[in-house]
Amino acid sequence: MKEYKITLLKGDGIGPEIVDQAVKVLNKTAEKFGFAVSYDEALLGGCAIDATGMPLPQETIDKCKAADSTLLGAVGGPKWDNLPGNQRPEAGLLGIRGALGLFANLRPAVIFEPLRAASPLKDEIIGGAMDIMIVRELTGGIYFGERGRKEVNGHPAAFDTEMYTVPEIERIARVAFDLARKRSNRVCSVDKANVLESSRLWRETVTRVHKEEYPDVELTYMYVDNCAMQLVRNPKQFDVIVTSNIFGDILSDEASMISGSIGMLASASLGSGKSGLYEPVHGSAPDIAGTDTANPLATILSVAMMLKYSLGEPDAAKAIEDAVAKVLEIARTADIAADGMKKVGCREMGDLVCGLI
Ligand code: IPM
Ligand code: MN
Repeated sequence: MKEYKITLLKGDGIGPEIVDQAVKVLNKTAEKFGFAVSYDEALLGGCAIDATGMPLPQETIDKCKAADSTLLGAVGGPKWDNLPGNQRPEAGLLGIRGALGLFANLRPAVIFEPLRAASPLKDEIIGGAMDIMIVRELTGGIYFGERGRKEVNGHPAAFDTEMYTVPEIERIARVAFDLARKRSNRVCSVDKANVLESSRLWRETVTRVHKEEYPDVELTYMYVDNCAMQLVRNPKQFDVIVTSNIFGDILSDEASMISGSIGMLASASLGSGKSGLYEPVHGSAPDIAGTDTANPLATILSVAMMLKYSLGEPDAAKAIEDAVAKVLEIARTADIAADGMKKVGCREMGDLVCGLI
């Protein structure tokens, strides 16, 4: 029997609760589809700071590298908010993405039919279906550029740097074009090329990769401010969106809300190898941590992405996606509660999904 080794980074806040439910679902899928899973845990974020003084201990990097794939809950919380930037839990998250070379972040924004009413957008705007894939560059740009404090004209000042190299843009463009070929064959490259030099290089490079390697894919461009507007005006115009680290961070939060709740959105972070890191798009929600009310579905759907992109078990992935679509017809966590629908906690939601697999 095939056995997959998974490293769990449960993290902070609701992280441990949602990861526990996702593990339950993965185990159930393994049983059903005839493979085995073994787990190892490692520390990332606030829990790592408390235990070791650092948000990303070397041991965590080693354990992720040794695994077939990694599942992450969420990091951060008010307890660590006053630490200097490079010692915060978020620095651990950026650090693990960098250390594992996970340059491509896939954030699908889909509307599950039963959740249509939970979307803040009107029915006629959503249209028949919404299925957008945001491809966010994840290890470059302003989140990784040179930053610091200095003095300007006698005033304290601070700066961050947006920079991209051609190979960084080429490889993320290829990820987007490859994905588009398996979907509706359309890529929209989002930038701010009317202002930023880094965006002009981005656009030039995406255009060249398209021309040389993917002429069969339809490529369009959009400025990021317009894209933010178009996402709520006419989301169904989009198939794959490819964009920089910071723009992808912002646009994916916006797109997630269109789908009804940020508690539903999964993500995959991939590098050149097959393993990868899977995590919900939402954060650690410290206000509801430990109350068994969090929505575990984004993490459960992240496991489905792991099965598809890293473990090569597409049937098992599909079984999870189908179970999630079904469970939404019978039960809801607080964030997506609806009249006449059973309200359940995190654990019960996990149990219900398992029961539908
Ligand atoms: C995300 C988060 C992170 C990011 C933070 C916590 C560093 O917002 O995964 O979108 O900006 O990438
Ligand atoms: Mn974010």
